[in-house]
Amino acid sequence: MARSPPTQSLGLSAAALIPATFSLVAISPAVQWGWLDASHSKSLQAVLRMDDLFPGLLPSIGFSIAAYFATVVAVGACRETFGQRGFQGRDLLKPKVKEAIPETLGLPASCIYLLVLFLFIPFRYYVVPEGVGGLNPRTTNDGGWFGDLGGRRGFPHHELAVYLSALLSLLSSLVLGFCDDVFDIRWRFKMPIPIVASIPMLLVYYAGQGGTGLVVPGWPAWLRTAVGANVVDLGLLYYLFISLLSTFCTHSINILAGINGVEVGQALIIASSLCLNDFLYLPIRLALSEHYLSPSHPIASPSSLQSELVGRHLFSLSLMLPLVGTCAGLLAWNRHPALVFVGDTFCYFAGQALACAGVLGHFSKTLLLFFLPQVFNFLLSCPQLFGFVPCPRHRVPKVHSETMALYPSLVVFPRGSKRPLKMMGKGMLLILETLRFIKIYRARDLGAGAESGRDGNDIVAATNLTLLNTILVVAGVQVPLEDVKWRLASESLASPVEQPSIPSPQGPYIDEARLWRMTMGVQLLGSAVAFGVRYWAAAIVFPQT
Ligand code: UD1
Ligand code: MG
Repeated sequence: MARSPPTQSLGLSAAALIPATFSLVAISPAVQWGWLDASHSKSLQAVLRMDDLFPGLLPSIGFSIAAYFATVVAVGACRETFGQRGFQGRDLLKPKVKEAIPETLGLPASCIYLLVLFLFIPFRYYVVPEGVGGLNPRTTNDGGWFGDLGGRRGFPHHELAVYLSALLSLLSSLVLGFCDDVFDIRWRFKMPIPIVASIPMLLVYYAGQGGTGLVVPGWPAWLRTAVGANVVDLGLLYYLFISLLSTFCTHSINILAGINGVEVGQALIIASSLCLNDFLYLPIRLALSEHYLSPSHPIASPSSLQSELVGRHLFSLSLMLPLVGTCAGLLAWNRHPALVFVGDTFCYFAGQALACAGVLGHFSKTLLLFFLPQVFNFLLSCPQLFGFVPCPRHRVPKVHSETMALYPSLVVFPRGSKRPLKMMGKGMLLILETLRFIKIYRARDLGAGAESGRDGNDIVAATNLTLLNTILVVAGVQVPLEDVKWRLASESLASPVEQPSIPSPQGPYIDEARLWRMTMGVQLLGSAVAFGVRYWAAAIVFPQT
């Protein structure tokens, strides 16, 4: 079961990639500050031109590779200490493994990500003083520092403020996640904290004249006539939407968790999809055209080449590329069979990073499209999250200890329970059963004798309301009835009942690694649908005229 730590196979790739990383990060500033002469090197000039067209992109790519290596090394260096300090947990789906696994290793990974973002600042927002280097002063120092609060003229103050607000939000979710890992904070407290933490982000969105309009669908045609406008300005409601979106993103990854690699895997796929979406907005063809790369082509000022839209997507890339690197490094440790757990720290942190990219890159509605599996999982979970149906501490699927086959976990409603199923909860379960997202067990399903005295139609158990269980239900995996009976018996009696030998679940064989692949498949499908909606359906539903 045990596998070798990823640090063991790092040497060769590090030797090949670290010099490349260094060049991507350092060449442009070195030339611009006059430390490197580019006048005789076509390739250096090409790098400079790329940097001119896409400010910050090359360092972002370089830093994302660095983030990968640094994360693999940092997690490896910290895992023993974390285990010794009590940050460890039992792997719920490995009943035969007795040793605990170090937990909260999302903390060093998140710290690496933050450090990389800090290091990025001077490479993106530096000002080349007049007369220095001279090939391509990106922003000119046209006034120096006079001590006024406006600061250095020519400096992209607003963009830096946007970037710093993202750092603030990230730090707040890092603290919240870590506190949750240490103190297991109650839902009613941890739910609203991200709403307050989003205030700096809302303010810079306002200062950046972020749009608050909602385009009314042009199809069906009567909708725009009925509303009387093509765009409805939501005003303050839009800020509420952003705030709730950031709260949703912060929590949504944590509730789609519990099998090895699923938390990091989903963050990795969403971040990569956002990167792809960002790249689609960059004039890559222009950048690669011989005409633009030729040394005789005059370097245009950034403002003439860089539209607002390109700038926003470059900003999003500066957050997402390092996240891809960090997630890939963490996944090397957390993939099945996991050598570390990431903890709530990582779940909240990654969710917030994705929210920052979407909100501050001004594509919050598109962002939501890339969270389709998380939105589904959240909506499905609502009856349990909001107390209509009891919510067990862990809702991850169960494992059959002999075959390692997974089957859906249950919430049970024994007779005389302190938390009986009420009307609303029952109605919600019946709707979800009709949609085939869950399986409900009734007294009559358990056969003669069991749950005697109850009406045959009484709901005695249901599969937990999560995407992971739904995938198993849809695939046709069945919970062994012995397990349902045992759970009912052990929850209705005060003293614990010994678990009987449970037969292997009926239906297709799905183990933890396979369920991870299936969940990642769903996430990738979600991204494909998101791209389809964004670039195809949106053109039909939201026509320009
Ligand atoms: C959330 C879920 C809970 C799920 C848990 C799993 C909700 C409302 N809460 O709770 O249903 O069971 O995440 O993370 O949906 N673990 C594994 N394998 C893994 C990852 C985690 O066995 O790959 C176990 C370990 O015992 C670990 C524990 O889950 O110690 C961490 O759970 P925690 O993050 O504290 O749970 P919550 O976030 O509260
Ligand atoms: Mg968690």
